[in-house]
Amino acid sequence: MQEVISLNQITKIYERKIALSSLSFSVNKGELVALIGPSGAGKTTLLNLLAALLPPSQGEILIDGHPLSELKDPKKRAKKIGIIRQQFDLVGELPVIHNVLVGRLSEWGIFKSLLSMLIPQDKGYAAQALSRVGLADKLYEKTSSLSGGEQQRVALARLLVQSPEIVLADEPVASLDPARAEDVLDLMVKIALEEKQTLIASLHSVEYARKYFDRLIALKDGELFFDLPASSVTDDHIQSLYKLKEIS
Ligand SMILES: Nc1ncnc2c1ncn2[C@@H]1O[C@H](COP(=O)(O)OP(=O)(O)O)[C@@H](O)[C@H]1O
Ligand SMILES: [Mg+2]
Repeated sequence: MQEVISLNQITKIYERKIALSSLSFSVNKGELVALIGPSGAGKTTLLNLLAALLPPSQGEILIDGHPLSELKDPKKRAKKIGIIRQQFDLVGELPVIHNVLVGRLSEWGIFKSLLSMLIPQDKGYAAQALSRVGLADKLYEKTSSLSGGEQQRVALARLLVQSPEIVLADEPVASLDPARAEDVLDLMVKIALEEKQTLIASLHSVEYARKYFDRLIALKDGELFFDLPASSVTDDHIQSLYKLKEIS
């Protein structure tokens, strides 16, 4: 098994709030990991640390055995780690194709990126990615005219074009209705398997976590509550994870 991510005693403190406390675990290449736990447990903080959007207060994150803090080159980082969020982060006013090609920005440099606003560069990549997410006919549609589920598929196409080894997804289906949510999760997992990516997604639906992922990492109050294969997670585990503190 090839270890791609390793967290060693990670703590994150915001002002006075301890968001993550001495967290350690590792993830192997190709694993499909769901991050679950009540609101405020630290899921977003953890994903932002893994994406190097935030530095840890203590501890170290290793990617392929090397400190993440040393992975500074934007091109190399984009090839290693991609992130997808609940809000999709798409520019609604632009045609779908431009949003997909943003996935190549880190490889292009500024001149080509600016030019692409006028004449989409590497159109082939975008067309291919869009057809893999079932949106081959939407290349030139205004992005904001698409439904929520379609917009998240555009975000998946953008990630296909970026082609990172590790995909981090923060509540990727939270703003979708159940049918659309399953559709997007199904596609996200299928792509991760085809591309041999390592996927870590935070989800507030335990049902989806168990259905689509191999391993469930549960956080509570910034600490590891359990880390189990999806098939070993019982209803009792879930109940105690989400149980409110007794008021005494
Ligand atoms: N920028 C911030 N400043 C201060 N506290 C924060 C900040 N971001 C998150 N927190 C706090 O850190 C804890 C973990 O938050 P978060 O990682 O967003 O949890 P989750 O994604 O599991 O809901 C929460 O108590 C939250 O209020
Ligand atoms: Mg969150």
